[in-house]
Amino acid sequence: MGKESIIVALDIGTSKITTLIGDIDDSGELHIVGFGEVPSAGIEKGVIVQPNAVTSAIRKSVDAAENVAGSKIGGVIANISGAHLECRNDAEKVEFNTNQKQITSADLNQLMEKISEKLQPHKDNLEVIHILPQKYILDDEDEVIDPIGLFASKIEGRFHIVLDRLNAYTNLRKVIENTGLRVLDFVANPIASATSVLYPEEKEMGIVVLDIGAGTTDMAVYKDGSIEYIRSFPVGGNQVTMDIAHRFKVSREEAENLKLEYGAAVVEVATGDVIEVYPRGGEEPVQIDHYELVDTIEARLSEIFEIAKSELDALGYTSAVNGGIVLTGGVANTPYIKELAENIFQTDVRIGKPKNYTGFSDKVAFPQYATSIGMLLFAKNKIALPPATAVHNSSNFDIFKIGKSLIEKIKSIF
Ligand SMILES: Nc1ncnc2c1ncn2[C@@H]1O[C@H](COP(=O)(O)OP(=O)(O)OP(=O)(O)O)[C@@H](O)[C@H]1O
Ligand SMILES: [Mg+2]
Repeated sequence: MGKESIIVALDIGTSKITTLIGDIDDSGELHIVGFGEVPSAGIEKGVIVQPNAVTSAIRKSVDAAENVAGSKIGGVIANISGAHLECRNDAEKVEFNTNQKQITSADLNQLMEKISEKLQPHKDNLEVIHILPQKYILDDEDEVIDPIGLFASKIEGRFHIVLDRLNAYTNLRKVIENTGLRVLDFVANPIASATSVLYPEEKEMGIVVLDIGAGTTDMAVYKDGSIEYIRSFPVGGNQVTMDIAHRFKVSREEAENLKLEYGAAVVEVATGDVIEVYPRGGEEPVQIDHYELVDTIEARLSEIFEIAKSELDALGYTSAVNGGIVLTGGVANTPYIKELAENIFQTDVRIGKPKNYTGFSDKVAFPQYATSIGMLLFAKNKIALPPATAVHNSSNFDIFKIGKSLIEKIKSIF
């Protein structure tokens, strides 16, 4: 294992806390070399409700990954999910004194600085999580992705900015740091999941990723090749389970088992079978129709999709996403969920599994690992940026703090 290229992702979800140790080889490929996972505790819908329980679950997850990899972890990259995430798009221009200036990374940094100066996050009780370049426009005309080395008399940079509510961010940082771990960087959950499941051509066509987990549904919209919008709705598979528990008066565990064993997303596939269940506190089993179970699941999943669809419609993205929808997260394993989503969104839908890695695929080649693998890929891509673009010097909140420093920090602690 090349020590200087180890990165660790900590996916703090509502149902599970996963630690993935990734090794980036000389040719830039990601290999998973450590895996740890424990049931989550103390976090609901992306909100920390019992800090000590979260801290102890994180520690257990990290311990498990350390045991597998045979090494100690000092610092992690963590995800942020929940309704407290916000985003906006913004642009800035720099005009040069000459008609023909060759663009350098210093010019891009200047654009980034102008954007950062405009943001006064702490005044609004916010913390900046990402400032992501979408594209650059040279001389008001040419749209380019990487302008370094090109000539222009002026350059405009368009950026996608992700912010988190300051206290939510601070609470998350604290529960991780209380384990003794350092947080090297945060990645917004919608962006992490999209990073591991999307193809570049889908981003070009315009596409929506929906990561439906136990407590949150994370949405990312890509247009013209870059990220355009993110949102984390406080809804997910736990509500499907609770609906089953209420309707059939069974325990939460029994409801979850029923969902996993007999669940499906569309009533058309329900069988005429009956299933025996044990109601809460009852000694005698009662019978429920498979149709009723699937009907309960379909109703809640439809509602989740309708929430996402209203948002897309309201923002005018529905017609801009020709690539359709990618579903990921644990709930994307529900049989026939693709068909339900196609019916509601009236567009192509596919199930997104994480790609662009090797190792531990028996454990992680499933939609519920889109986030953790995406976090490793996101960090890998940031490291691959030339240091001048990656390291942002003059901000008082570490935006592009990664670059070389991430690797060095990890090297010194792993
Ligand atoms: N085969 C399946 N059928 C239906 N639901 C499933 C299936 N497999 C997993 N799920 C559901 O997926 C959810 C867990 O997904 P995931 O692991 O992505 O969530 P998480 O990352 O812990 O939570 P979140 O991201 O919302 O905080 C649970 O609600 C679980 O019941
Ligand atoms: Mg998740």
